Amino acid sequence: MLDWGELKGVCGNCTRCGLCETRHNVVFGVGNEHADVMFVGEGPGEQEDLKGEPFVGPAGKLLDDMLSIIDLDRKENCYIANIVKCRPPRNRDPLETEQDACIGYLRNQVALVKPKIIVCLGRIAALRLIDPGYRITRQHGQWVQKNGVWMTAIYHPSALLRDVTKRPETFDDLIALRSKIREVGAKV
Ligand code: URA
Repeated sequence: MLDWGELKGVCGNCTRCGLCETRHNVVFGVGNEHADVMFVGEGPGEQEDLKGEPFVGPAGKLLDDMLSIIDLDRKENCYIANIVKCRPPRNRDPLETEQDACIGYLRNQVALVKPKIIVCLGRIAALRLIDPGYRITRQHGQWVQKNGVWMTAIYHPSALLRDVTKRPETFDDLIALRSKIREVGAKV
């Protein structure tokens, strides 16, 4: 396992998959490196690629609003990362091979942050981190414990921008997240 400095250095120079050829920036992660609550998205979009920070485009604005409902703040009390650190062209889903090449960085981040709770943002992260058969429409908001970490998934903010009818369910999931934070004594 690498420490934060080593990991950022290695990740920043990564050429493990083809996404390195089209990226402007590696999007490593943002937030409190000792947070008890961690969010994992799928991969950077255009704005994120240009800025080098996760969730800074329209979906990111919505994510910040969602976090604020339950007193979370990306700079204060949570950590945000993605399954792949470089932007897939035209925002396509990251390929299995790209996820395989990149997942070790996320695992190292999780090992360093040591969160009590991990929230997958959307289907791709849930498939990778919770269950390869995960069905986001049926299973969002359900909780499982893996290796001592409580895990759930909620709809991806981009999905909530496309389909506002999913927002009430997500509000319920956020309230359940706040309850879980209190239940496990996570610091926020
Ligand atoms: N969507 C993601 O999954 N991650 C980001 O960082 C931005 C948009």
